[in-house]
Amino acid sequence: MKLAGRVAIITGAGRGMGEAIVRKLAADGAAVVVSDIDEANAGSVAISLRDSGAKAISVRADVSNEADAIALADAAVAEFGTLDILVNNAGISTTKLFLETSKADMERIIGVNLIGAFLCSQAAVRIMLPKKYGRIVNIASLSGQRGGIGRTAYGTSKAGLELMTKVMSVELAAFGITVNNVAPGAIATQMAIEQHDKATRDAYHYLIPQRRYGLPEEIASAVAYLASEEASHVCGHTMNVDGGFQTAGLMFKRDGVIAPETPAG
Ligand SMILES: NC(=O)c1ccc[n+]([C@@H]2O[C@H](COP(=O)([O-])OP(=O)(O)OC[C@H]3O[C@@H](n4cnc5c(N)ncnc54)[C@H](O)[C@@H]3O)[C@@H](O)[C@H]2O)c1
Repeated sequence: MKLAGRVAIITGAGRGMGEAIVRKLAADGAAVVVSDIDEANAGSVAISLRDSGAKAISVRADVSNEADAIALADAAVAEFGTLDILVNNAGISTTKLFLETSKADMERIIGVNLIGAFLCSQAAVRIMLPKKYGRIVNIASLSGQRGGIGRTAYGTSKAGLELMTKVMSVELAAFGITVNNVAPGAIATQMAIEQHDKATRDAYHYLIPQRRYGLPEEIASAVAYLASEEASHVCGHTMNVDGGFQTAGLMFKRDGVIAPETPAG
């Protein structure tokens, strides 16, 4: 129960990784605000958490809307008295070649993934700053670190999120507020199921040393650590949780045999 007494907002928590994160933070003792643009999904996650004994409410919020972001932070304070943890998880994706990407695509994806995190973080920091305690964890992406084909809008939004994390972290470190990223690789969620065809799945299985997609629960564990007091000296860090994807180099050993599947020696 390392988060006992803490109050957390998780955006995009109606399904996928956000749902796994909110369930993990609640299991670790936090009172949670389950937020999503999809009111019905957020509501049912909050109900099931309350049924299992957790303190949970749901709040519908579009993170790209400033009034929603402020109302979300205010709802945490109104219900639970304060706000300690914000997880900026809400995100949308598209895969389009550079020349096929429209201005509207760029504005929509960056508006949610980057400006949404900016707006929710500003509202949260205004509450965290006076009490000199806060944990902000942003869900970035391996796609923000590599030049993946079709990732002009999405990758750019996530790369921006990593840099914003560094700036926020440096500005807020002296005030007891840490800001960090978790960067998932390929994770088996609805988003990945919708976006990844068989060729994409095969490519990921080839490129990821663990030879599998990650699980939402594996992201949630990393978030729970960064959201806890145990991570008190971790500032502006990006923790990749990707089965070794970012770390890997050439994975051929000899005779076309992929090294991780080759017995030692
Ligand atoms: N699945 C992957 O492989 C993967 C890899 C790297 C990073 N990510 C990132 O992880 C996060 C979660 O992804 P997921 O796979 O669980 O996606 P998902 O599509 O399953 O869930 C995303 C949630 O965000 C909500 N959402 C969308 N727009 C919103 C808005 N404007 N305001 C509030 N909520 C909104 C959706 O309703 C949904 O519940 C995203 O930021 C995504 O970019 C995912």
